[in-house]
Amino acid sequence: MESSTTLTKIAQEFGTPVYVYYEERLIQNYREFYSAFKKRYPSVKILYAYKANTSLALCNILKKEGAGADVVSGGELLTALKLGLEGKDIMYTNNSKTREEIGIALDAEAVINADSVVDLLMIQEEAAKKKKNAKISFRINPGVDPKTHAKIATGLKGSKFGVHIEGDDAFKAYKMATELGAIKVVGVQTHIGSQIKEVAPFVDAAEKVMEFALRLKTDLGLKLEYVDLGGGLGIPYQEEKTAKPEDLAAAVVPVLEKWNKLLGYAPALWLEPGRYLVASTGMVLTRVQTVKETPYKKFVNTDAGFNTLIRPAMYDAYHRIEIVGKEKEPNNEKYDVAGNVCESGDLFAKDRMLPKARAGDLLAIMDAGAYGYSMASRYNTRLMPPEVLIRSGGGYELIREREKLEDQYKYQRIPKDLQ
Ligand code: LLP
Repeated sequence: MESSTTLTKIAQEFGTPVYVYYEERLIQNYREFYSAFKKRYPSVKILYAYKANTSLALCNILKKEGAGADVVSGGELLTALKLGLEGKDIMYTNNSKTREEIGIALDAEAVINADSVVDLLMIQEEAAKKKKNAKISFRINPGVDPKTHAKIATGLKGSKFGVHIEGDDAFKAYKMATELGAIKVVGVQTHIGSQIKEVAPFVDAAEKVMEFALRLKTDLGLKLEYVDLGGGLGIPYQEEKTAKPEDLAAAVVPVLEKWNKLLGYAPALWLEPGRYLVASTGMVLTRVQTVKETPYKKFVNTDAGFNTLIRPAMYDAYHRIEIVGKEKEPNNEKYDVAGNVCESGDLFAKDRMLPKARAGDLLAIMDAGAYGYSMASRYNTRLMPPEVLIRSGGGYELIREREKLEDQYKYQRIPKDLQ
């Protein structure tokens, strides 16, 4: 962790709760991920999954490093364009697309990842209207168990995402796509889930997708520009052993090479990491308001809540917590670390061993860079927190101001007779 003095200064200057990120760590994570694949495979494209964290400064750092964007909404797509990304480096994936969003993707010449045949037909219609050729792939559901939390497993057979290989659904979808005038098939995509800690599910998915790519070549004569294996690589929230990009690349690239021999060509490998790139770069700093003892438990009450960081409440996710400046003190007190939201599920940690906490202490909730700010809300009329970037060259900068209460009133209207 950064020196406690810097974190204390940041908390004093910008108030709490506040998100703090390390630029250097972000760059390191990206380079580690990209080079693990690039040194093993000739053509690799990293599409950073914007949903993990769409703060402009962070997306811009990744853009400068060479990352494209995996986007899920018109908002994310327009953000990628605002940062100067080109359509060829943007993939728009969503299971429930609006025509308006398809239109934005078509105008940008981004790749559109179709989720079903119905989706395909909608893309065809919109592209025909614009007299454009839509570049598409399908999201394939390979029916693989990623062995992760049920809410973030997406490639299971019963999941809402993608077209199934099973029942020949995916093949029929591709066949139809090749017969449509305004559609150009350019790839195949899959994403099996998130916070996956081992390589085996990725290998399974890669095998199935590559076998499918061969079928497309043999039966439809289709030569794909890319095979996109999605995101999903986990991080060690509890300092447990998890697969690293090196392990993933070493396991998956040989699968591609094996099938490429049969294919007779080598499609580019696209990947869509979100969490791995940003999670470990960020933390939430929150101030202890009170320490309270009940006959059953000791609570550390903070000034953040699940409106700030929802992962513990939503997925029972574990985040390491440190008391800034007390890193060397023994963890000999057991606390529930509570948020300030009026719900009993609003806990950042249960029965967590920490040094003795006092009102005024600063807590750092670690590994909060992914699905932290991007899932934050205004519940309980709290203000969206500020974000601060600790620069790789030293010093820190505010990259997002704390919201103001007026911002929350700005778009609301009280009907005249109710005023
Ligand atoms: N590509 C697609 C199509 C996705 O749906 C996702 C994440 C990613 C890439 C990036 O996956 P990652 O590398 O970050 O695992 N809110 C949850 C995670 C939801 C993930 C949704 N999709 C959490 O906080 O754990």
